[in-house]
Amino acid sequence: MSERKFVPQAELDRQFSICDQLKKEIEPRGLTFYVETFGCQMNVRDSETIKGILTNIGYGEAPDKEHADLILYNTCCVREHAEKRLMGNIGALKELKEANPGLIIGVCGCMMQQEGVAKKLLRRFPHVNLVFGTHVLHRLPEMLAHVFAGDRLAMTGEEDFAIAEGLPQLRDNPRSAFVNITFGCNNFCTYCIVPYVRGRERSRDPEAIRAEVAALCASGVTEITLLGQNVNSYANDLESGSFAELLSLLNDVPGLKRLRFMSSHPKDLNDDVIRAIRETDKVCHHVHLPVQSGSNAILRRMNRRYTREQYLEIIRKLREAVPDIEFTTDIIVGFPGETEEMFHETLSLVEEVGFAAAFTFAYSPRNGTPAARMEDQIPEDSKKRRLYELNDLQAQKTVENNQKYIGYTGELLVEGCDDRGTETMLYGKYQNFKMVYFPGDPSLLNRYVNVRVLRAERNSLIGEQIHG
Ligand code: SAH
Ligand code: SF4
Ligand code: F3S
Repeated sequence: MSERKFVPQAELDRQFSICDQLKKEIEPRGLTFYVETFGCQMNVRDSETIKGILTNIGYGEAPDKEHADLILYNTCCVREHAEKRLMGNIGALKELKEANPGLIIGVCGCMMQQEGVAKKLLRRFPHVNLVFGTHVLHRLPEMLAHVFAGDRLAMTGEEDFAIAEGLPQLRDNPRSAFVNITFGCNNFCTYCIVPYVRGRERSRDPEAIRAEVAALCASGVTEITLLGQNVNSYANDLESGSFAELLSLLNDVPGLKRLRFMSSHPKDLNDDVIRAIRETDKVCHHVHLPVQSGSNAILRRMNRRYTREQYLEIIRKLREAVPDIEFTTDIIVGFPGETEEMFHETLSLVEEVGFAAAFTFAYSPRNGTPAARMEDQIPEDSKKRRLYELNDLQAQKTVENNQKYIGYTGELLVEGCDDRGTETMLYGKYQNFKMVYFPGDPSLLNRYVNVRVLRAERNSLIGEQIHG
């Protein structure tokens, strides 16, 4: 077991005192920030911390980047072309900088942890002031103090995997919140860049997680989503505890109605977790369980460490334990060496499981990962064709899955509204992640209402509110 490191309180206090000093200058000037986030929930969550720190420094939030005094891109590098797109986006900010020379431009996130990228950005774009990686968010006050003093800097801290507790955060959503339980990943799936840019897996202490969840629920949040690249391996680096125990520990937090988690890794989703989902009443009946491929040969080459049969067995056990459970998944097509036959094994698995939804990707080689160096790379046109074929099948399965819900009534958390000309359609989710649209008043936003499903359209369920 490796020793976990925490950012020392004295260091956090030093950063907070820099915040206080900066605030005296920034607040009276009415300056604003704009943070644009790419990538997964990890980055969304990090952006909330960044926004929290900027708020503590005295910045307000700008409605768009054209009106902001500080623009920050939080980047992702899980797929190809992200770098080219980012370069384009940053290039386009030059005009804004010319119109407002005081504008501060920063770039952060996973892509900045890739070798050489941070330095390249500073060299290539003189209008970029600040570049930083995923391990040094807590040092943002110090970094900004340098920027205000006229420096341009890059800070990536590759070696520093310390956990920073108690950072400020600005969360937009009053009803639903993400809470990190682990950082990093130890799995090294052969296609994936995440372990290289997010570092080794580190678990937060259960008490710290519970305290954060309790504080959120006390402030009116009712839905919590626990975040980790592989939530099921939570606590592997602690003296004791497990993901199943964490679910039980959080289940009775006052005010909590829905407890979600993602992502689950099939190799670590054990019977204790299945039992915890069944026996707790707040844990939602939805598991995002990325399968990646239906072929054992490909799963082996991906280093996923489970077989098709083991995956299907977990699905079977979960359905047996929790009959109304729904599954979503991630699938990659065109992994190196994937034959037509192996691809058809993925199609047959999708057919067999009946996922409520699937996030599907054409394999894209990431520099530095083993799969990028494998022979038998699949031509782009074959990958695209397989992706269409898979998406077609999943679209049919989604329709089939939707049909099951006609006539069903359940409690929906209202998440948003769409103005459709003559009527306002609200939408929200049942606890098992199925989304329903229904006509209603926007005052119901963030509330729980009973909704009955009337019909299934191609991609969505349409229902009506049931009173009483
Ligand atoms: N930790 C999570 C998610 C990781 S990234 C998990 O393990 O489930 C989200 C998804 O992006 C992955 O599940 C995978 O399907 C996809 N992905 C990651 N690297 C990829 C690559 N090089 N090419 C195509 N898709 C990729
Ligand atoms: Fe990437 Fe695999 Fe870790 Fe997920 S579990 S982040 S796919 S290495
Ligand atoms: Fe992207 Fe980083 Fe998430 S690479 S997918 S934002 S962990």
